[in-house]
Amino acid sequence: MCGIVGYVGKKDKKEILLDGLQELEYRGYDSAGIAIIEEQKLKHFKAIGKLANLRERTKDYQSSGFGTSIGHTRWATHGKPTELNAHPHLGEYSFVVHNGIIENYQILKSELQQEGTKFLSQTDTETIVHLFEKYHNQNRDAFTAFTQTIQRLEGAYATLLITEAQAKTIFFAKNGSPMLIGFEGNDVYFASSDTPIIGKATEVYYLEDGEYGYVKDGKVTLFDAKGEKSFSKQTLTTNKAMAQKDGFRFFMEKEIYEQGEVMNDTMMGRVLDDRIEFEELDNQLFENISNIKICACGTSYHSALTGSYLLERIAKIPCQVEIASEFRYKEPLLRDDTLFITISQSGETADTLEALKMAKRAGLKSLSICNVDNSSIVRESDRAILTRAGIEKGVASTKAFATQIMVLWMLTLYIAQLKKSIDKESLQSELNAMRHTPKALLVTNPLHEKLHRLSKRYLHGHGFFFIGRDLFFPLALEGALKLKEISYLHAEGYPSGEMKHGPIALADSELFTVALMPKSLHYEKIKSNVEELSARDATILAISPEPFELADDFVQTKYSSHPMLEFFEMMVVTQLLALEISVRLGNDVDMPRNLAKSVTVE
Ligand code: AGP
Repeated sequence: MCGIVGYVGKKDKKEILLDGLQELEYRGYDSAGIAIIEEQKLKHFKAIGKLANLRERTKDYQSSGFGTSIGHTRWATHGKPTELNAHPHLGEYSFVVHNGIIENYQILKSELQQEGTKFLSQTDTETIVHLFEKYHNQNRDAFTAFTQTIQRLEGAYATLLITEAQAKTIFFAKNGSPMLIGFEGNDVYFASSDTPIIGKATEVYYLEDGEYGYVKDGKVTLFDAKGEKSFSKQTLTTNKAMAQKDGFRFFMEKEIYEQGEVMNDTMMGRVLDDRIEFEELDNQLFENISNIKICACGTSYHSALTGSYLLERIAKIPCQVEIASEFRYKEPLLRDDTLFITISQSGETADTLEALKMAKRAGLKSLSICNVDNSSIVRESDRAILTRAGIEKGVASTKAFATQIMVLWMLTLYIAQLKKSIDKESLQSELNAMRHTPKALLVTNPLHEKLHRLSKRYLHGHGFFFIGRDLFFPLALEGALKLKEISYLHAEGYPSGEMKHGPIALADSELFTVALMPKSLHYEKIKSNVEELSARDATILAISPEPFELADDFVQTKYSSHPMLEFFEMMVVTQLLALEISVRLGNDVDMPRNLAKSVTVE
């Protein structure tokens, strides 16, 4: 995910920017760039790939004396990871870096193009610098031009702008994407999170949405919609490890909380007003395809299962799901009218990679859904859709799972559009539901607090059953896997209708049943299954919008017309439950015993 740094002062700007960007590396990126103004002269450097490439590009450049500077690491969303698309973006005499999405950039871009502005990149960001220069050319006042520019922007942004027109000033604005200002004497720093400025600045101000302004002569002038305002600085932490976790106790916790935000990245440029678009796909991939086979492991296998329900139900295409380690040795019958999809967070899972190679040898077309660009699975596949979850550090996958599900949902609609198996009205209602997903993923304080309190009742017993039906069966599997991975307690995911065919024999008060009871999908059926367990004295933790009187514990979710919104909300509940149980048991949440983030052995 993208990162921003900025600096105004006399120190070595190149080193400050490169060091700062290095601190943001853990967030993931595919290109980087810096721009510096010293003695009225603008200099800029960009490179795709790792920061080492940018260091190499800048090795003969020395920066000294007073100046302004901005830097950026980019995780490609609008447009490919190329040097032209890397930030900072250049106008005639100014540079800009930006995190977030300018939602109305197409309108702004067309307006500027009609007036003769030439665009070099495919990014939304470039509109900012051209708008600024347009207004500056009209009124010759840089701050007025910057204010006019940000008033035109819709969407989320954190942005820094430097210009030869006012060389000793940095202009900044924040709305919806994080940005902070660091202070040390007359030096002023900017960053999209604490880590780049720890050890450099001693005080910090965290900008609020709607705030903007400029830095000149070491002084920050701040504005919001009401005009100029004062602000108070606070002491900056010196603990880098804590800052990388954005103040959360664990990476997994941070990753659960950021699911709403990353989902916007996953959907960006793909969920359009009236359809789904994937710039990485074309009709050719689906020519002569009559069915789909998905292969994956672990959590990715659970997302594959969820996808199979969506693909068959909405896109009306037969879909089979296989565990990669089983598929490899079952001597599968493969037909060339099958599209072979692999799903992998890391893109390096040995079993999944080998399954893909087998499918390719059999002449099947392949598509991967992956979080890591240029990984082995991505390189091996005919086409790849990146999930854009940002680097996931917790071994127990959370946001990668959520974004895989979203890609599968989008892919379902994409295929449904191609096959014309969905009517306009239904497509619109799916797209509307998708746009509400980030809200369904929000973690509220009362919810987290409730799960923290409940968790103390679930530290013993002889096992957990997570149960659900339909789409919620794979979610039950995933809920159980999360709990197993980080609590080391035994947990199983089961279809709720299947309990009476065996596992109900285990039911007693020490059997904890986590029941996923969505109101929008088979509620009455699941309710009967849970009643059967309750009648045998099983302890029931029900997760549902609908109060359930037989529940021993109850977590209430929101009523929603679309099952996928219930799905995502319940997913967060199960993730937090696992997290809180693990914390109480004193386990290492981010690095559970015996597990690795990337399983490159079979
Ligand atoms: C998820 O919490 C696990 N760490 C594990 O099941 C993982 O999903 C599995 O190893 C597959 O990994 P992949 O998605 O990187 O291929």
